[in-house]
Parts: sequence; C-alpha cells; structure tokens
Amino acid sequence: MIRKIRFVEPVKVYNMIKDELDAAYFEVMSKGDLIDRGQLKSFEENLAKFVGTKYAVGLNSGYDALHMSLRAAKVGAGDEVIVPAHTFVASCSAIVNVGATPILVDVGKDFNIDVDKIEEVITPRTKAIMAVHLSGYMADMVRIMEIASKYKLIVVEDACQSLGSSMYDEKTGTKRMAGAWGMTGCWSFYPFKILGGYGDGGAITTNDPDVALFATRMRYNGEDRDTGEYHGHGFTCLLDNMQAAFLDVKLLYLPSWILKRKEIAERYRTALCDIPDLLLPHYNDLRRDHIYQNYTVRSKQGNAFSDFLKTNGIEVLTQFRKPYYKHTALKLEDRGFPETEALSREVCSLPMNVEIDNSEVDYVIEVVRKFYGK
Ligand SMILES: Cc1ncc(COP(=O)(O)O)c(C=O)c1O
Repeated sequence: MIRKIRFVEPVKVYNMIKDELDAAYFEVMSKGDLIDRGQLKSFEENLAKFVGTKYAVGLNSGYDALHMSLRAAKVGAGDEVIVPAHTFVASCSAIVNVGATPILVDVGKDFNIDVDKIEEVITPRTKAIMAVHLSGYMADMVRIMEIASKYKLIVVEDACQSLGSSMYDEKTGTKRMAGAWGMTGCWSFYPFKILGGYGDGGAITTNDPDVALFATRMRYNGEDRDTGEYHGHGFTCLLDNMQAAFLDVKLLYLPSWILKRKEIAERYRTALCDIPDLLLPHYNDLRRDHIYQNYTVRSKQGNAFSDFLKTNGIEVLTQFRKPYYKHTALKLEDRGFPETEALSREVCSLPMNVEIDNSEVDYVIEVVRKFYGK
C-alpha cells in the first residue's frame, strides 16, 4: 500500500511543543511587544551562547545575514568573492547585490567547496571567501581559515543549513561550532530549516563588536535606537520579536532534535549501505560532526530514482537539478564544474525531520530498496 510521507510536517512539530509556543505567542500579543523587545534580545543571547560567539544579531532572513556581512566587511565593486558552485543561489546573490564579483569554485564529494581548488582562483582582487556548510555538514574550515589567513581574506560562513554542526581543529585541540570561525556566521530560520520559525528569519553571529554594532544599526535603517542618530543608509531587516520568541522556545529543543536526526541517519545508513549505486552522506572525516539538516543521497539513476519515490508517496527534494550558474538571467560565468554537474543530476534528499516516526523511515527504506530490486 502506498503511504504519504511528507518531507516536513510543521503542524506535527507545533503539536509537539504547542503549550510553549502558545505561551510565547500570548506573552507577545498580550503586551504588544512586536519590534525589538525582550524576546529578540533573549533569543540573540541564547543563539550566541549556542554557537559560541560573543554576539548574535537577529535579521529578517539568511540572505540578509549574508548581505549584511559583506556590507560590514566593505566588500563592493571591484572585489571578488569566492563561493561554491553548488549552493543555494542566495550565497551568490548577496555577493552580486553588493556589487562584487562571485568567483565560483567546484565542490567535493561532501557537497562542500573543494578546498584544494580555492588557491587557484585567488587574485589581487579577492577580498573574501563565502564558506558554505551544506546540509548540516561543515566545509573544511581548518583549511579555509589557513588559506584566508595566508592571503588576508575575510571569511563569511553561510551556515544557513548547519546550525549545531561543528569541526575539531587538531592544531589547537579545540572544537568550534559552525558560525564561530569566520568574521560572521550567517543563519536562516526559514520554516523548514533545522531551527525554523513561522515565516522568514535570520541572524548573524560574530565575535567582532564593530560588525555586531553595524548590523544592529543597519537592520533598522541605520539608526542607533538609543540616540536616534542615523549611521548610514541601512535596511529594514530586523528579526520580528514574535519570531524570536518562537525560535527561543525551539532552540531549547535543538540538541535533542539533532540527536533524533542522527538516529534517523543511522537507520537509513544501516538499511541502505549495501546499494552500490546509492552514495550516502556519511563521511570518514571524524573531525566534522554532521547534524543532517538534510539527508542528501546521490543516486546514479537521478530522476528515475526521485520520480519512483514520488510516485510511491514520498516527498523528496532534488536541490539543485539545475545549478544556479546555469540560469542565464543570473549572468554568471560557467567555467565548468564537473563535480557540481555530476551531483546535480544525482541529488535526492530523503525525508529527514524530528516529526517523522520509525515506521515512516522504514517505508522510505522499503521503497528505496524496491527501486534497486532489493
Ligand atoms: C545555504 C543557504 N544559504 C542561504 C540561504 C538563504 O536563507 P533565507 O531563505 O532565510 O534567506 C539558505 C536558505 O534556504 C540556504 O540554504
């Protein structure tokens, strides 16, 4: 019998923590605390603590976090910024929208930027590296920070898909969370992210007080809220107080939700690791902790595989069948990115969320195995 397995089910999550979310809602509504109030401050403090940075500044989206970071770093016309060829388009659009030139670099087998290819594209105009941590697994930040320090480049971490992941640095003997390595960590709280709000939301995390102050003013049209002074032409991109209240509730659950995701990943791995045509997202680098924002497999059979899952009632994500640099309106240079091209034909994210139960995961496994005649 065909079952319907949703990719995410926000209503189920709501029901799991309904009392706390409802209490947060009534607290905000009954006081009329809509803009820049205690809930925002509290969430920012808790997010900074979670990531291990001194500051967090709530913004309206992940895109705003990337854009704000590049502005804070004074990246603009004439500058080049290195960005992976396989990422969500916003990583690149933020670069274009500050007037800089994105320089695309192919990715490796783990979907993240191939660090061995970064130095090849560095020129005197290179100002920054946009390091993207895709699907819950960090890019090799140890190497990226080494390259950045060698060429005096700014690093902005697009950590929108990786809240809670981390990497161990053998040289310093310390483990650091995603978003605590570069000048800023950029976060998205889009509803289907690992920490999802009930609308758009985002933030930056940083250890730099000037960057935090810049973002705090620029998100509010450049205004210093204490003095009323405008410190530049800014934007309207403040994280809503209501969203912050909801996110603050959900952040408390994040550690246990990450454990649940790891259990599901292990269930998939154990049941599917004998299929040669299916590459699973489990890697040998023990320094990096995968938190499985997405469980993205690579199937040699591409669309035939994802279509089979869909016809059997399973919602899957095939991001991104068409790489962003192939969209002609974006006017980006396609220098040929073989790994990105190959994985674009093969990617398929299986349902991975905290609201799914074991019988649903087992049904996904059964359908995948059936496709491969197992
Ligand atoms: C890697 C990456 N970067 C940036 C973004 C942009 O975040 P938002 O949708 O909140 O603007 C996303 C969200 O989808 C993302 O996955």
